[in-house]
Amino acid sequence: MIIGIPKEIKTGETRVSITPDTCRQVIALGSEIVIEKRAGEKAGFSDTEYKKAGARIVSTAQKVYDSAALILKVKEPLEEEFTRLKDGQALFTYLHLAANRNLGKCLLQKNILAIAYENVESREGGFPLLKPMSQIAGRLSVQIGAHFLQSQNGGAGVLLGGIPGTRAGRVVIVGAGNSGAHACRIAVGMGAEVIVLDIDEKKLNYLDERYEGKVVTLMATSGNLQEAVSSADLLIGAVLVPGAKAPRVVGKEMIATMRPGSVIVDIAVDQGGCIETIHPTSHRQPVYKKSKVLHYAVPNMPALVGRTSTLALAQATEPYVIELVKKGLSKVMEEDEGFSRGLNMRDGRAVHPQMARIFGN
Ligand SMILES: NC(=O)c1ccc[n+]([C@@H]2O[C@H](COP(=O)([O-])OP(=O)(O)OC[C@H]3O[C@@H](n4cnc5c(N)ncnc54)[C@H](O)[C@@H]3O)[C@@H](O)[C@H]2O)c1
Repeated sequence: MIIGIPKEIKTGETRVSITPDTCRQVIALGSEIVIEKRAGEKAGFSDTEYKKAGARIVSTAQKVYDSAALILKVKEPLEEEFTRLKDGQALFTYLHLAANRNLGKCLLQKNILAIAYENVESREGGFPLLKPMSQIAGRLSVQIGAHFLQSQNGGAGVLLGGIPGTRAGRVVIVGAGNSGAHACRIAVGMGAEVIVLDIDEKKLNYLDERYEGKVVTLMATSGNLQEAVSSADLLIGAVLVPGAKAPRVVGKEMIATMRPGSVIVDIAVDQGGCIETIHPTSHRQPVYKKSKVLHYAVPNMPALVGRTSTLALAQATEPYVIELVKKGLSKVMEEDEGFSRGLNMRDGRAVHPQMARIFGN
């Protein structure tokens, strides 16, 4: 099998989908790797390292797409990449199709066998390829929030940790899954007051026990949300309904009650966002003001730490790539139920139940 690795082109993206180490292992199993020149540069991996690992370096993205049976990426293909995809090609990457109809239509038209990282499930039922990036985005969300809360960056001038004799800043986190729990960890570490809301009692129990009273946990009822949001210096959206567009949990009337200069980081923006006033931003222009509140909604936050993110992502995808190489696509999809749950499109049909609902067949 020839596996193609194009350079990522989403604004500010720094990750690459494979490390030289994984290349070496895959090539030892008899596969070929074709990688676009300088694809790993921003993550700190040089062409020489890939060459030493046995990969073939090519000068353009088109050459990668033309020669590979399987395209391994990080982010979803952008419009300018649509034409590069070959009919019947396999694609393994983050897709987030519930929030991206144009891409879904393109994959159907081109009969792409599309496996979405975010829908692959482990035997225990979690999402092993979403988890590391959610953890990174969760941890980043608090440091990003702290940055934009600074006066010179447009914020209210609040120091999240406070000092003795002044109140600490308040961080309100909606969603206590992977990203929410990691945001909570950093916010507690900074000395902020932390409130976490979720609809899943087990998630709240876990945080309550782990932080022994340092974190306030609340069920995400509209009353609790209203009260918590209005008092937040930093509001973090970290909600997910797997395979679906994010539910709009925080309405615009709640945002209108926040103090001027407060900050929102909606991590869930890749699934459409869980805050009504949110729209996607980019690393080039990451924030905008609405109702005097700063909104940050970058869908590829882990690109801020490309080295860490590439290592974490490649570590997570490596066993799946190796399984694909050893058994071939069709056999893996038949035998590995968790992996096959990641299958979104095949032979011009939406096969994932949520995608079938959105795209029909
Ligand atoms: N912006 C980025 O760069 C970036 C990076 C990684 C992940 N993400 C996204 O972050 C989002 C969260 O991912 P995750 O891995 O933390 O998900 P997760 O499944 O681990 O956690 C989601 C949580 O949301 C809760 N939830 C669902 N509906 C809710 C509601 N109505 N009210 C309150 N809570 C609710 C769930 O109970 C769960 O605890 C996803 O959309 C993911 O794709 C974004």
